[in-house]
Amino acid sequence: MRCDRVWRNARLATLSSGLGVIERGQVASLGDRIAWVGDEAEAPAFEATEEIDCEGRWVTPGLIDPHTHLIHGGDRAHEFELRLAGASYEEIARAGGGIVSTMQATRAASEAELVRAALPRLDALLAEGVTTVEVKSGYGLSTAHELKALRAARALAARRPVTIRTTFLGAHALPPEFAGDPDGYIDLVCSEMIPAVAAEGLADAVDAFCEGIGFTIAQTRRVFEAAASHGLPVKLHAEQLSNLHGAALAAEFRALSADHLEHLDDAGIAAMAKAGTVATLLPGAYYFVRETKVPPIAALRAAGVPIALATDCNPGTSPLTSPLLVMNMAATLFRLTVDECLAGVTREAARAVGLLGEAGTIEAGKRCDLAIWDIERPAELVYRMGFNPLHARVFGGKTTWTR
Ligand code: NIG
Ligand code: FE
Repeated sequence: MRCDRVWRNARLATLSSGLGVIERGQVASLGDRIAWVGDEAEAPAFEATEEIDCEGRWVTPGLIDPHTHLIHGGDRAHEFELRLAGASYEEIARAGGGIVSTMQATRAASEAELVRAALPRLDALLAEGVTTVEVKSGYGLSTAHELKALRAARALAARRPVTIRTTFLGAHALPPEFAGDPDGYIDLVCSEMIPAVAAEGLADAVDAFCEGIGFTIAQTRRVFEAAASHGLPVKLHAEQLSNLHGAALAAEFRALSADHLEHLDDAGIAAMAKAGTVATLLPGAYYFVRETKVPPIAALRAAGVPIALATDCNPGTSPLTSPLLVMNMAATLFRLTVDECLAGVTREAARAVGLLGEAGTIEAGKRCDLAIWDIERPAELVYRMGFNPLHARVFGGKTTWTR
């Protein structure tokens, strides 16, 4: 069998179902695709341009971060200090800080400056074996600045070997020029921003922040209707600080995912299970805002809702750029199993960004995105804190980094 590269002597966690372990595995690539994967005892005779001996290392799919706000200006270290002194996240937001303060810094930055600011954050993700990243707008909050943010997000893929999925999050917060008129702002989101984003093909999905400090269920529904009328799938920041029944609305629109979900109830879980909507959990935000209500993991599991994990990398509630630490937090704080954690940053994360046909597992026909690890067992990826055992990263069949 002719191919470009063969990785031999690998312990594979293909994630095709469960962990999908193949103890003596091989992977072959042709172009940017996986041409063959399986047990070495069943491998065809390869005619490869290059052979790579993995020396018994573990190989997983390239990791996927399915919820980030990588594109933003400035930081919120000062608000962090205010919170340390006793202010709550909601109090700071209501006093004009929070998302609106990042909006000001984002509006002040050019597209090139937003790209430059995001690259170190992106590089931190890539250094832990990430090969696909979802990036939201949502700090521009005007048509021109939201389009600028989405263009900056797309531009990241030209600067680094990574697949970028963009999500339009115009309904993230109320910009000051619409103070007292949230419905007027939602009019703008629906009748101007979403059509402009769709016309330029700048977004793969549409998201909203359904919350007391965000938008109501009725406003979120209007955003989803506008997205649907432009053929765009939806996602939702739902049930993070309170229960507005956003997850059930998301499920009604067959959302790819509902995210956060600390305050999710049984009706929301049932609706998500029926619609196949992924629960994307963000333990970094839970930790950083010192939330005490844990998402209903046992009920999600019992209902068969797929669970993904993401950094939620953003300046306000989760200045986090480590999927490895996300897995550790999901296990320690939410009691996810090792298998659930690994599926959460691979297969289920791919599902959450609508890319399961392309990524998230090691299967023939998918993109050859791999992470090769210096570990003895998969649990080590979840167990350590602040330690990175990545040995090599493969993107589209090419080694882009190796220790
Ligand atoms: O995912 N919840 C809303 N959006 C972000 C926070 C954004 C911010 O505070 O800047 C989140 O937690
Ligand atoms: Fe978020």
